[in-house]
Amino acid sequence: MTRGILITNAYWQSDTTRAMRDLFLQAARDRGVQLAEMPNDADFTGIETDFVILWDKDVRLGAMLEKRGIPVFNSPLSIALCDDKTLTHLALMDQGIPLPETVICPQTFPVNGYRRWDFLDRAEKLLGWPMIIKEGRGSFGLQVYLAKDRAEAERILQSKAGEPLLLQRFISFSSGSDKRLYVVGDRVIAAMRRVNDNDFRANIFGGGRAFAYTPTAEEERIALLAAGKLGLSFAGVDLIDDRDAGGNTVPLLLEVNSNAQFVALHEVTGVNPAVHMTEHILSVIGREQKQKNG
Ligand SMILES: Nc1ncnc2c1ncn2[C@@H]1O[C@H](COP(=O)(O)OP(=O)(O)O)[C@@H](O)[C@H]1O
Ligand SMILES: [Mg+2]
Repeated sequence: MTRGILITNAYWQSDTTRAMRDLFLQAARDRGVQLAEMPNDADFTGIETDFVILWDKDVRLGAMLEKRGIPVFNSPLSIALCDDKTLTHLALMDQGIPLPETVICPQTFPVNGYRRWDFLDRAEKLLGWPMIIKEGRGSFGLQVYLAKDRAEAERILQSKAGEPLLLQRFISFSSGSDKRLYVVGDRVIAAMRRVNDNDFRANIFGGGRAFAYTPTAEEERIALLAAGKLGLSFAGVDLIDDRDAGGNTVPLLLEVNSNAQFVALHEVTGVNPAVHMTEHILSVIGREQKQKNG
């Protein structure tokens, strides 16, 4: 019997994480796979399994398991690229993927802070106000800020000095709304539009409402290309609509999630990503085993 381990984070458990776990366990059971949940603080010494679903950002644990020859989904390196939006931007900026104009802030140290603002002078000319500021590491919109002016930007940047940070053009055309495409393997399995009337961030966590959405061919192209370039087996790709000089609506990529929550997506589209991810993993490890035997 095929055995798998679902790694979740020991210190972050909620109704949503439990709901996703249950969908994974059910999808495995339905396919005769023995899947066990293990928190990332468990003892993995001597653990034997056919695959690991790293439903967490503990890339060090993931890398350790990979070193033992265990197939880990998503790959820890890909998760690391997604878990820092500055690294995601660098990986995707020259790959034919439309992105909002972005400036990566210079590295400083928490004790020193930003002692001069030359980079912000340049960014201000390029991006204007208001300006989006993002911490490299963040989720649920919690580490995404909208600075209305220079004073606010300096205050935010100073308070986060030492973290990876980026500055980005605010896409005012779509304030409070975005699209989430869910990629598994080489397919977009489902998508939703998210809208928040009370905030510039569309995240469900912050009150965004979700609607089933049928992506355009260009949106699918961007999502599949981004997931592929980052080496992801599955991904939640966030896109936003901008308007080009000719007045046409064009999608831009905002971020790629290696462990995208799927409870709301499941509810509004009826598509169960846990089933697609499980089947994808089984087909990949089936293929790898065949290659080893052959
Ligand atoms: N450049 C931008 N212009 C307008 N809105 C943005 C921009 N970047 C992010 N947002 C809004 O903020 C939300 C959160 O940003 P995102 O980059 O997806 O980070 P998170 O990891 O927190 O979800 C997006 O879903 C979108 O609604
Ligand atoms: Mg997002």
